[in-house]
Amino acid sequence: MLASLRAHATHSHSIVRSAAANMSTKANNAAAAAATPSASASAPSAAGAYQPLDVARYMTALNARRQPSAIRSLMPLLQIPGMISLGGGLPNPALFPFRSLSFGLAGGKEVRLSDAELNESLQYSPTPGLPKFVAQLRDLQQREHAPPQPAGSWSVSVSTGSSDALFKAFDLLVEEGDNVLIEAPTYSGSLAALKPLKANLIEIAVDEFGMIPSKLEGMMHTCSSMQGRAKPRVLYVIPTGQNPAGCTLTAQRKKEIYEIACRYDLIILEDDPYYFLVRFNAEAAGRPAVALDSVLLHVLLTLLICIRLFPGFVLQSYGPEKAPAVGADANWQRPANSSFLSMDTEGRVLRFDSFSKILSSGLRLGMVTGPTAFIQRIDYVSQAANLHTSGLSQVRFIAHGRDAGCFTDAPLRVRPSLTGHVCVCSGWRLVRCW
Ligand SMILES: Cc1ncc(COP(=O)(O)O)c(C=O)c1O
Repeated sequence: MLASLRAHATHSHSIVRSAAANMSTKANNAAAAAATPSASASAPSAAGAYQPLDVARYMTALNARRQPSAIRSLMPLLQIPGMISLGGGLPNPALFPFRSLSFGLAGGKEVRLSDAELNESLQYSPTPGLPKFVAQLRDLQQREHAPPQPAGSWSVSVSTGSSDALFKAFDLLVEEGDNVLIEAPTYSGSLAALKPLKANLIEIAVDEFGMIPSKLEGMMHTCSSMQGRAKPRVLYVIPTGQNPAGCTLTAQRKKEIYEIACRYDLIILEDDPYYFLVRFNAEAAGRPAVALDSVLLHVLLTLLICIRLFPGFVLQSYGPEKAPAVGADANWQRPANSSFLSMDTEGRVLRFDSFSKILSSGLRLGMVTGPTAFIQRIDYVSQAANLHTSGLSQVRFIAHGRDAGCFTDAPLRVRPSLTGHVCVCSGWRLVRCW
């Protein structure tokens, strides 16, 4: 009896394994089908000609050993009516000690989660994110960046802030001893993730318009005789309101850097947490984004930090009329070349977005967008690390969108809720002064 149960369980398990592989991209694919007409309109590569990169060529030995979690694989079966799970330890939702949840918005609006939303948010949920949320985010990426790949070949996965997804992308791509290209200077949080991996970090200089393509080209030329993993394969870049330098890559430079990445077979990690701030500022052209008192406070703080850390940089104010998109390329037009993702015909960009700077950093919400095979391997890390991003944060975001109109309809309506990153919010940016 036990043996037959076991045999049955093993059989079901192999079925659900493949079900899970499909399920993890279900929301992505459903939304992909809906997005197909506009995607193909902007796609230079015909669906038949597109050849996704083989993720196995880039992944680390550690990531290659990661397998889909058996418990997570069983989750799709729970969608079958009447199914009782003896697999994962799903708590009985009737016993959750919460009856309702509502929150007030700055404009005075009250948002209340429905019973279904509350239950969904309190239960374990799929690793890539709640299907409805993933579909909304995919829609958002389609609107903002229109990735020029066949619709089914790119995916979105929700992350616990962009740091979470970045850490997992390093797990996927960065091995001890690998040469990794970064900007000089770069974000200290990413250095904290990269340094313990003992990667050899190769710095590429930036100026006020971001990473200098000729420096990158020169470095790649120098490395061109390297073989195997020694050859740099990862380029980590912060294109908008670079932290800490404050510079923003021009569309032209993005194009040049993308071409270099294609030529030298680099995977671009596009860490863009300040993108929505710039979008907001571009739409609200000329309006001050933050109150004067907080600008002064943060200018002083930032000055102190910058002078201490980067004595070669000073803060310079361009004012709204000189920096229309807060230091962004003055010719910036949405969506053409608005991001590396928007020009990624080869499927070699992983883009990291964050909601920390526009809603709340404590919600810990972000997303990673890129080639499906890469996203799936990042999801395997999540399955082992944290199962999924907080359902409550995801549902809160959905409800916010539903009741306050954010992120659900075009044009995008967001407001920067944080003033801490003064270089981006106020039009101040760092320029080299020697
Ligand atoms: C460049 C950069 N990347 C990532 C992050 C982390 O963002 P999140 O809160 O989404 O993890 C920050 C935060 O300041 C940042 O400046």
